[in-house]
Amino acid sequence: MAKQVLITLLLLFISSTEVVEGTKKSYGIYDNKNNNSVKLFVFGDSYVDTGNTMQSRSYKPPYGMTYPGKPVGRFSDGRVLTDYIASFLKIQTPTAYVLRNSSTLQYGVNFAYAGTGVFQTSVDGPNMTVQIDSFEKLIQQNVYTKQDLESSVALVSASGNDYIAFVNKGNIIDIKSFTSSLINQLSMNVQRIHDLGINKIAIGLLIPIGCVPRITAITFHLSCVDILNLISVNHNQMLIQTVLQLNQQVGKSVFVTLDLYNAFLSTIETMQKQQKENSTRMNPLKSCCEEEGLTNSCGSVDDNGENKYTLCENPELSFFWDNLHPSQNGWHAVYTLLQSSLGQLIDKN
Ligand SMILES: *[C@@H]1O[C@H](CO)[C@@H](O)[C@H](O)[C@H]1NC(C)=O
Ligand SMILES: *[C@@H]1O[C@H](CO)[C@@H](O)[C@H](O)[C@H]1NC(C)=O
Ligand SMILES: *[C@@H]1O[C@H](CO)[C@@H](O)[C@H](O)[C@H]1NC(C)=O
Ligand SMILES: *[C@@H]1O[C@H](CO)[C@@H](O)[C@H](O)[C@H]1NC(C)=O
Repeated sequence: MAKQVLITLLLLFISSTEVVEGTKKSYGIYDNKNNNSVKLFVFGDSYVDTGNTMQSRSYKPPYGMTYPGKPVGRFSDGRVLTDYIASFLKIQTPTAYVLRNSSTLQYGVNFAYAGTGVFQTSVDGPNMTVQIDSFEKLIQQNVYTKQDLESSVALVSASGNDYIAFVNKGNIIDIKSFTSSLINQLSMNVQRIHDLGINKIAIGLLIPIGCVPRITAITFHLSCVDILNLISVNHNQMLIQTVLQLNQQVGKSVFVTLDLYNAFLSTIETMQKQQKENSTRMNPLKSCCEEEGLTNSCGSVDDNGENKYTLCENPELSFFWDNLHPSQNGWHAVYTLLQSSLGQLIDKN
């Protein structure tokens, strides 16, 4: 495949970045009563953000229409991966960092911020390093004890914003060495989370980026774009290798990968089969909140107050909610396929 085509494909992916304002860093009095439950600390981007990105469309309808029934800062019609992992741990979803002054911190904190990456992306939000800095500050303020942290779980998500920023800079040729430097930094990040006292760290593998509706638009949503999925495959091979080495170094399985790549692909394939047999089913490669062209228009209205998007009839039959993010139904299906890996987060070895 010609390099030019690859560049064009990746450029299509680019507009996924959420343009938002940065967060202020300040501290108040925190509520961490009844703190003997497991806690979940979350780092990453819009796939796991549950409300930190306050200036974004995730705080506008129709986001949140399925759950909790109004927009609350999730990039979905309802629950996202964070919610399902919290429920797996039998706790409530941890508080979004931006709400830390007014909500309980007894279930942990979610530092994730839409559009961000391991490196600095075009979004003016906290990169993963800065998110971990915020975590470290909370620990320095004695919000959590050593025992709290030892029994906690971390969730780390880097879903592709780094690649978007990289391609945006016109550097496509050297994508493999970029992947190496990305995995290298990610590896330092997760080791740092471990050094701060957390013994179970779940790291999401990269999704098949050639399957998001923004990209499948060029196949009229008939198929994923396999050449882009190769970037994910290469990224994941390197990440799995790195995680193996990290676990060997610490002598126990602290680091666990979540195979979002295969969970996405296999859910999409199942839903494609269902649609072939029953045309009232939804095409999993199309978004429920259908956006205008290649814009992020789900959640926008025009000057006359008309919606710049159209909603599917049954969000509960969709895989993708908007051009980039799974719906609650999509996340739930993916979560059910991740259960065996998640089991490793609660075993005591
Ligand atoms: C948290 O509370 C402090 C004062 O206790 C305040 O300065 C800060 O702006 C608050 N932060 C947020 C995000 O509300
Ligand atoms: C909560 O944490 C404090 C220290 O911050 C500790 O003294 C207390 O025992 C903890 N409470 C529970 C219920 O674990
Ligand atoms: C993360 O952001 C901070 C603040 O903008 C910056 O100094 C740092 O270099 C960034 N880290 C990485 C790994 O890109
Ligand atoms: C087709 O799918 C729809 C939506 O799930 C369902 O209500 C309907 O019963 C299905 N029809 C058949 C023939 O299976």
